[in-house]
Amino acid sequence: MEVEEDEYRRKERIALLIIVVVASVAVAALLVAFSYYCYIRNRVSKRRSNLQRADNEDKGGFQNLQVAAEKGLQVFTFKQLHSATGGFSKSNVVGHGGFGLVYRGVLNDGRKVAVKFMDQAGKQGEEEFKVEVELLSRLRSPYLLALIGYCSDNNHKLLVYEFMANGGLQVHLYPASSDNPISLKLDWETRLGIALEAAKGLEYLHEHVSPPVIHRDFKSSNILLDINFHAKVSDFGLAKLGSEKVGGHVSTRVLGTQGYVAPEYALTGHLTTKSDVYSYGVVLLELLTGRVPVDMKRPSGEGVLVSWALPRLTDRDKVVEIMDPALEGQYSMKEVIQVAAIAAMCVQPEADYRPLMADVVQSLVPLVKTHRSTSKVGSCSSFQVTKSPTAHEFGKASV
Ligand SMILES: Nc1ncnc2c1ncn2[C@@H]1O[C@H](COP(=O)(O)OP(=O)(O)O)[C@@H](O)[C@H]1O
Ligand SMILES: [Mg+2]
Repeated sequence: MEVEEDEYRRKERIALLIIVVVASVAVAALLVAFSYYCYIRNRVSKRRSNLQRADNEDKGGFQNLQVAAEKGLQVFTFKQLHSATGGFSKSNVVGHGGFGLVYRGVLNDGRKVAVKFMDQAGKQGEEEFKVEVELLSRLRSPYLLALIGYCSDNNHKLLVYEFMANGGLQVHLYPASSDNPISLKLDWETRLGIALEAAKGLEYLHEHVSPPVIHRDFKSSNILLDINFHAKVSDFGLAKLGSEKVGGHVSTRVLGTQGYVAPEYALTGHLTTKSDVYSYGVVLLELLTGRVPVDMKRPSGEGVLVSWALPRLTDRDKVVEIMDPALEGQYSMKEVIQVAAIAAMCVQPEADYRPLMADVVQSLVPLVKTHRSTSKVGSCSSFQVTKSPTAHEFGKASV
């Protein structure tokens, strides 16, 4: 009887052991299976979120251009612009800048445009280009050149702007050194108007958009003139797309354009809106003197426009000596002194002493108003240029 009971207890222990072992194995198997499930789940969700991010990024890039298009920008195919510019024909080249050639073109609806064919290609350039188009589509002012649309086909990047019949300001200030034999000299009144409109363009970029836009490459060739010599600022925000080519036409990421760059920016790379104010001062000096910012062929001490002009700007007697001979003395001395004083403040080596563009605009408004109220409409002034054939239209094949 006792033996039987012992046997029974032994069997019971064995059964319990088997149950415990089986249960442990089952729990262990369950744990392994659960961990594997968690691992797989984690991987799948990571993959999904990566895919979603990539998708969003794609859509984001696309949306940028989509938003740009919704804001009135046209998206052109390369073929459309090819035909608008007569196959990018040489006869339609109106300029060659730091970013490539600029062509005159006519769209299907008859609108005249300027097509800027960007030299740079590649994936990064493509991204920057998209960002720029998005930025430019948000900036609208009567004093800024309007971007009409763009083309971003494979490696072709083109910007389509409104056409400015009288081209860059520099063509008219330095007709002898330009390709345009028939550029017309600008009278004092027109120069004052250009100075004010360009100042309003910069004022808009600095003070009417948030965050402010620093032009970085403000210069006379980026002030474009329409058929009536009204000025618009161009290439705002484009400076960072510039090539880093050295020599020739210098329009680089860090350097801007020789002769226009504020000293603190050249030395430290520290860029503020006051760097644009300096460049604006250099353009005022060009309008006053008819001299290019840097000309090493001039006698010693006269090569750098700012260094030569600055000590003469605040001296009543000396300021006459620096005036553009092409003006033939046809200006009000009082106004010249005021403009010279503004230029002197803008090109101060110390950035903090330079005025804001809003101050410049305020100082110029009364001068231009004076001219409007006493304007000699219909007079036979030798500077009556607005009705004449324009430099761009003259002698150039149209498309
Ligand atoms: N919208 C436009 N309408 C007419 N001419 C233009 C236009 N944009 C540029 N140009 C001409 O092309 C020239 C080169 O322009 P751009 O590529 O901006 O070079 P830059 O670096 O000299 O400013 C300008 O000086 C001007 O004569
Ligand atoms: Mg330009």
